[in-house]
Amino acid sequence: MIYAFLNQKGGVGKTTLSIHTAAELSRRKRRVLLIDADPQGSALSWSNCREHSGFTVVGMPKATIHQEIDQLASDYDDVVIDGPPRAAELARSIILSADLVVVPIQPSPLDVWEAVKTVDLIREAQTYKPTIQCCLAINRRIANTAIGRDVREALRELDVPVLKSDIGQRVLFAESAASGQTVLVEQKSKAAKEVKKFVNELGRLK
Ligand SMILES: Nc1ncnc2c1ncn2[C@@H]1O[C@H](COP(=O)(O)OP(=O)(O)OP(=O)(O)O)[C@@H](O)[C@H]1O
Ligand SMILES: [Mg+2]
Repeated sequence: MIYAFLNQKGGVGKTTLSIHTAAELSRRKRRVLLIDADPQGSALSWSNCREHSGFTVVGMPKATIHQEIDQLASDYDDVVIDGPPRAAELARSIILSADLVVVPIQPSPLDVWEAVKTVDLIREAQTYKPTIQCCLAINRRIANTAIGRDVREALRELDVPVLKSDIGQRVLFAESAASGQTVLVEQKSKAAKEVKKFVNELGRLK
């Protein structure tokens, strides 16, 4: 299965959700390749801080990923692609490489408007490759606020499935990343539980 995390908007959680999806799949004994397709190289920097390498991370910020993906994926059960913000040409190549494109968004109207651009790119790619699936994922939801619900309402207009498993705003995401870890080091944390539910739901979309 090839998952791509993509949103033209910066800082929405593409790298965070890519790393956590890869880490959770790897914990489930899947052979996982994480492709950092962002010229910023955030996922690569994270992996350079890691002590244990549960899965492979490679940097490949090239608009030819879709031509090389079959070969890249051949030794793995799952591939996770961490996409860049902006960079439409690279984004198109990433979308064409994917079975499922996950568009992370934060619960804010600005994010809903911006998500339209990414959804349009996905729709365009689906005319060439109709099997590409896509979904929206709400990240950094703040507990007990109405904005999460309001955003769900606003997202209906996009006519793209929105995952039920939101990821909350939790400091453990930043804290664990600093040492090349993930929130999964604290298996009982709310963050780890959310990540597991999130990955379960992605698996059901297959
Ligand atoms: N659920 C969360 N709770 C708390 N902090 C988060 C959460 N998700 C992401 N962050 C923090 O938000 C910042 C941006 O996240 P991230 O780097 O994953 O976004 P991105 O979409 O990959 O950004 P870019 O577009 O620059 O690649 C990071 O500092 C990250 O630690
Ligand atoms: Mg990133």
